[in-house]
Amino acid sequence: MKTLFVKTKVKNYPIFIGHNIFNKFRKYQKVYLKNTNNILVVSTKKIPEKYLVKLKKNIKGVKTYTVILPDGEKIKNNNYVVQITDLLSKYNFNRNDCIISIGGGVVGDLSGYVASIYKRGINLVQIPTTLLSQVDSAVGGKTGINNNYGKNIIGTFYQPNFVLIDSVTLSTLPKREMSAGFAEILKYSLILDKKFFNWLCLKGNLILKKRSKNEILIAIHKSCTYKAGVVKKDEFENSHRAILNFGHTFAHAIETASNYSKKIIHGEAVLIGMMLASRLSNRLGYLKNKDLKDIKDIYKKLGLNFKYKKFVTNKNKNNIFKIMINDKKSLGEKIKIILLKKIGVSFIKETTLKNSFIPLILKDIKNGHY
Ligand SMILES: NC(=O)c1ccc[n+]([C@@H]2O[C@H](COP(=O)([O-])OP(=O)(O)OC[C@H]3O[C@@H](n4cnc5c(N)ncnc54)[C@H](O)[C@@H]3O)[C@@H](O)[C@H]2O)c1
Repeated sequence: MKTLFVKTKVKNYPIFIGHNIFNKFRKYQKVYLKNTNNILVVSTKKIPEKYLVKLKKNIKGVKTYTVILPDGEKIKNNNYVVQITDLLSKYNFNRNDCIISIGGGVVGDLSGYVASIYKRGINLVQIPTTLLSQVDSAVGGKTGINNNYGKNIIGTFYQPNFVLIDSVTLSTLPKREMSAGFAEILKYSLILDKKFFNWLCLKGNLILKKRSKNEILIAIHKSCTYKAGVVKKDEFENSHRAILNFGHTFAHAIETASNYSKKIIHGEAVLIGMMLASRLSNRLGYLKNKDLKDIKDIYKKLGLNFKYKKFVTNKNKNNIFKIMINDKKSLGEKIKIILLKKIGVSFIKETTLKNSFIPLILKDIKNGHY
């Protein structure tokens, strides 16, 4: 088992990473939730019950309540915020009490948001159960819900008391969700670490096919280390943290245009977005052909999709562009995009959509192979 500390201006907190570590919860509760008398466990319908049972068996000496929400991105919505805060009020939760989120990034983002605003902030524990939430969303304190205009438009920065990552939960995770989580792991390598990229070329299949616990734990630990490092430098995303959005401008647009349906899930959209951003980096003269080829090769080798024809057509392209600059602003307005200089080296570029993504996407549509 490994422990990693996230240091921010607001709070320092540990991330516990291991296999079969639910039974350690009691130990962490004693240290990090000392004055807590009430816990609300928030989860969703598709999370296998056995994880909740294991968790609750190890929560001791406090009143424990549970709320099980529907599955899917649609719960990142104000109605569920009200529903959960009503429960907290009904059970007389005060600021020493705690919300434990157990599930994927969706329930983690929602629970984190509620914890941050209920009585101006109560304790929070994140127990991520998807690969994506373990390597990304549960670390770093971004919380959020969606509105009718886009994803994560409403949100806060709010750090948990601790994060417990038990890779045993991945045993029940569907294949599609493994690839989605792998997208974020690949992202860290592309923006920060060429050696890690080379390691993923070799070990990617073992991770995706869940053939090696050890390799999975290494990838989770490495990803959390990178995320914690970036968050320490720039907790509130004033500049550097934006590199974590590599591939996400396009990803969010195709997710929003698909109404957050199961047609495309977040990590799949990120895979598509990262390839588009890599191609753009190459087209703008920053990324060498050889590096772009290596990126294409890892996608091919691991069977990761980067085609986006299903999501962007001649008909809906303007809508996609509009979403990419977050509606309303003119298409000539400046946006910040993340590009690669080489594998492992990324930078933030201020530009316009007209000078970056639009020509590339229009060319793709014209050629028909995309
Ligand atoms: N806060 C951040 O910094 C941050 C970063 C990245 C993504 N996100 C957000 O995270 C969300 C995506 O998270 P996600 O990919 O985890 O999606 P998710 O929470 O929808 O989970 C994916 C699916 O897997 C199921 N599931 C979860 N754990 C399981 C398990 N162990 N076994 C079987 N099934 C399981 C869920 O019920 C769901 O159907 C998006 O809303 C995105 O905006 C937030």
